[in-house]
This record gives sequence, C-alpha cells and structure tokens, in this order.
Amino acid sequence: MPKKPHVMILGTGHAVPDRVLTNAALEQMVDTSDQWIMERTGICERRIVAPGTPLSELASLAATRALAAAGVSAKEIDLIILGTVTGDMKFPATACIIQDLIGAKQAVAFDLSAACSGFLYGLQIAEGLMLTSGYRKALVIGGEILSSMVNWQDRDTCVLFGDGTGAIVLGAAEGERGIIHTCLGSDGAHVKLLYNPGCGSLNPPTPDNVAAQLHTIHMAGREVFRHAVTAMSNAMQQVLDEADIAPDELQLLIPHQANLRIIEGVAKRLHIPAERVYINVDRFGNTSSASIPIALDEASRAGLIHPGDLVGMVTFGAGLTWASAVIRF
Ligand code: UT7
Repeated sequence: MPKKPHVMILGTGHAVPDRVLTNAALEQMVDTSDQWIMERTGICERRIVAPGTPLSELASLAATRALAAAGVSAKEIDLIILGTVTGDMKFPATACIIQDLIGAKQAVAFDLSAACSGFLYGLQIAEGLMLTSGYRKALVIGGEILSSMVNWQDRDTCVLFGDGTGAIVLGAAEGERGIIHTCLGSDGAHVKLLYNPGCGSLNPPTPDNVAAQLHTIHMAGREVFRHAVTAMSNAMQQVLDEADIAPDELQLLIPHQANLRIIEGVAKRLHIPAERVYINVDRFGNTSSASIPIALDEASRAGLIHPGDLVGMVTFGAGLTWASAVIRF
C-alpha cells in the first residue's frame, strides 16, 4: 500500500525568458546544423535571457505565479529552497534574494547544489523539514541561467542548454493527495563527466583560468548519456517499487528534459507509452533544475493532470546525482 502523504503541491508556476534562440541561429555561431541538433537531441529552440538578467528576477516571477495558483500569500511561506548552479552570485544564496523580492518575510531561505537534480532534491528536503521542523508552507524552486556558463564556441555543449525557472508551493496533504515517495542518489566517482571546473576554490577565476574557459560547462556527452538512461530508469523503478506502485498506474511521467533520446530510452525501459510522457525539450532545451517544475506547470495548466492522478518525476545530472518522486494530485 502506498504511504499516506503528509505534504502536497498546492500550486505551480514557471517563468522563461522571452528571447528565443533557434537552431538556425546556432548554425551561424558554431559548426552545427538544425538537422544534427534535432536528430541527436530533439531540441528545436531554447530561451535565453538578455545579458545581465539575474536568476532571482526570473525565479521570483515563477514563485509569484506558483503562489497565485496556490492561493497562498508570500507572507505565509516559511521555507524557500532554490535548486540551482547558476545563482546571482557565489554568495549569498539567491533564495535569500528571492525571499526579499517576493516579500516572504517569515521564510528560511537557502540554495541547494545538485545540478539537474536540484528541484527533486529540494522537494524531498522540504518535505522532510515540514515533517520534522514545523514549517507549514514551502516554496521549492528550480532555476538556471545556464547561458551565463555556456561556452558559446563549444558546439558539443552550447546547443543543449537553455534558461528558465519553475516553482511549486507545498502545504499539508489532504486525504490521499500528496507526495507519496521520493528517492535520491549520488555517485561522486564521475564528477568530471559533467562539471564547471572554474569559479570555485579549485580554480579561481584568474585571467588564465578564464582564458582556458574553466568557468564554462565541460561535458563528456556520450558517457553522460549512457549513465543518464540507466540511472533515471533505475531511480524511477526504485521509487515505484518502494511505494508499491506499478509503472502503468502512472497517468503521467515528467522526466528531466535533457535529450529526447534519453527520455525515450527511459520510457521504453519502464514500459511507459509515449502518450504518458511529458516532453518540452524541443522548446526549452535542457534547463537543468528548472526542467521538471517547468514541465509540471505546463502539464498542469494544460489540463493534463487531474485530481487523483499519480504522476512520476525522474531526473539525472552532474555529481553524478539522480532523483525520483511519485505524487498523487
Ligand atoms: O542534464 C543532464 C546532463 N546532460 C545530458 O544528459 C546530455 C547527455 N548527452 C547527450 O545528450 C548526447 O551525448 C549529446 C547530444 C551531447 C551528443 O550526442 P551523441 O549522439 O552522444 O554524439 P557524440 O558526442 O557521440 O558525437 C557524434 C559526432 C561527433 O563527431 P565525430 O567524432 O563522429 O566526427 C561530434 O563531434 O557529432 C559531433 N558533434 C556535433 N555535430 C554537429 C557534437 N556536437 C555537435 C553539434 N553539431 N552541435
């Protein structure tokens, strides 16, 4: 029997930049083609902020939209967790800047670094803190301005990523509705498959390190791809097994949107038909920690999620990290 939930999602919101970067525009920047990007990734376009736009600006908009959808005022929020690797500054936490921008005066606010898994890590941590520490309403946000750390001369990576933010408001569960189960995992043996080696204490942003592009994303794409399919399939199967739910009981699967081929591989392994898998990687590219909350908000506003539906979520990212969740709406 699935466990009785304690915490549920009260509302969702997302915000993406207006500016669209198409594959055709990328053809003018690096040696690539619309056909290669479409065939290898499924991405047609991504959203990119105007230079200098901070994450807090976009994330505050997503948070405000989630609060409106939930019918909750910012003053009621007592916990804000932001999953990101592209905060406004190295410190303080961008969650604190968002707290001030939206007027969530009562909230404890902090950032969480788990790359593409940041949103689902935040979900489990928020649920745990709400159970143990008395927080009644929480905002969990996933947001990235990945365009700020992309090497726009590197065709291996620059075609993949986009900017965006998504947010949810959590509150006390009602009946059977709510977070049924979550699973997290990490494997630090593969740090260098996907990382940003500059900007930290290992390689501070000296002129030499910046000239060597250490402050940008470095990725061994083919190996990351292989790990992603295996880790996401296993993580989703684990959360379903531990919650005693069969894959065909899921009305919708919301996977991390990194690559259409990864999503199709995961769905195939789980025997989940394509019509039950939400996809928007074609329009937004890989927005890292923002991809699941953006997709969740889109699916919810499109009427694809009905009361009582079981929705699965699964992700994978740098670290390596992975995470999965099953929620009854
Ligand atoms: O969010 C979680 C983390 N990220 C991911 O999950 C991404 C995981 N990886 C992937 O999605 C895929 O590995 C990529 C889309 C990055 C690459 O696709 P692939 O099928 O693994 O291609 P590849 O890296 O094996 O490269 C195939 C060829 C290479 O040329 P050669 O060596 O065969 O001559 C690349 O140089 O494609 C070339 N290539 C490109 N060609 C045109 C690499 N990038 C591009 C490009 N345009 N943008």
